[in-house]
Amino acid sequence: MKLITVKNADEMGKYAGDIFAEAIGAKPDIVLGLATGSTPLPLYADLIRRYEAGGLDFSQVRTVNLDEYAGLPGTHEQSYRYFMDENLFRHINIDPANTHVPDGCAENLDDECARYDALIDGFGGIGLQLLGIGRNGHIGFNEPSGAFSKGTQTVLLAEATIEANSRFFADPAEVPRMAITMGIRHIMLARKIVMVAGSEKAGIIDQAVNGEITPLVPASALQMHPDATVILALE
Ligand code: GLP
Repeated sequence: MKLITVKNADEMGKYAGDIFAEAIGAKPDIVLGLATGSTPLPLYADLIRRYEAGGLDFSQVRTVNLDEYAGLPGTHEQSYRYFMDENLFRHINIDPANTHVPDGCAENLDDECARYDALIDGFGGIGLQLLGIGRNGHIGFNEPSGAFSKGTQTVLLAEATIEANSRFFADPAEVPRMAITMGIRHIMLARKIVMVAGSEKAGIIDQAVNGEITPLVPASALQMHPDATVILALE
């Protein structure tokens, strides 16, 4: 696992943008695993800039997002589908049919998890996976627990996660308690992984990169990945 430190969020966006642009250039129909949260925003802004400048073509790119809140429709402003549409997809020439986010409103969430795994397997896995990290070390919504998760699954969110994410909701009581998340297995099977983190995550990044590999710090699994890069912004 390679740790790169950069000055600030802008530089993080550009550094990650270079990796994404190179990967898309090399394989125009690449499957990108995408993430939400505030940390990836400078990367998405960088990708939009490159597209507008004529340097990137998303027409064949396929995307699978890591996670979605259970119970929020894609039209809800706090849903991850809405986040992706607003912050990336509607600004680039990606075919909306090629963008995938778990359906948090599916009638049967277990079936939806199985469908999502089959979708990713049908793509032949993920070419380049973007990750953020929760303050407790979660990736996607894989919360600290006694065992690493495998496939896509429903999860009860940790109190720390509910609290951290309540800043986006008008009423903290509205924060969903449950989510669907891609499991550690498909994340680890991605051919290349890029994790982005801001300075407020320096402590948990140190644990993930240098500490024991443990499901109590889900991001520590990346130590076992052959091509994982962590980009940490220092301010
Ligand atoms: C949420 C998402 C994670 C993300 C995390 C950190 O919990 N499910 O995928 O990494 O938030 O978000 P931020 O970048 O806003 O700190």
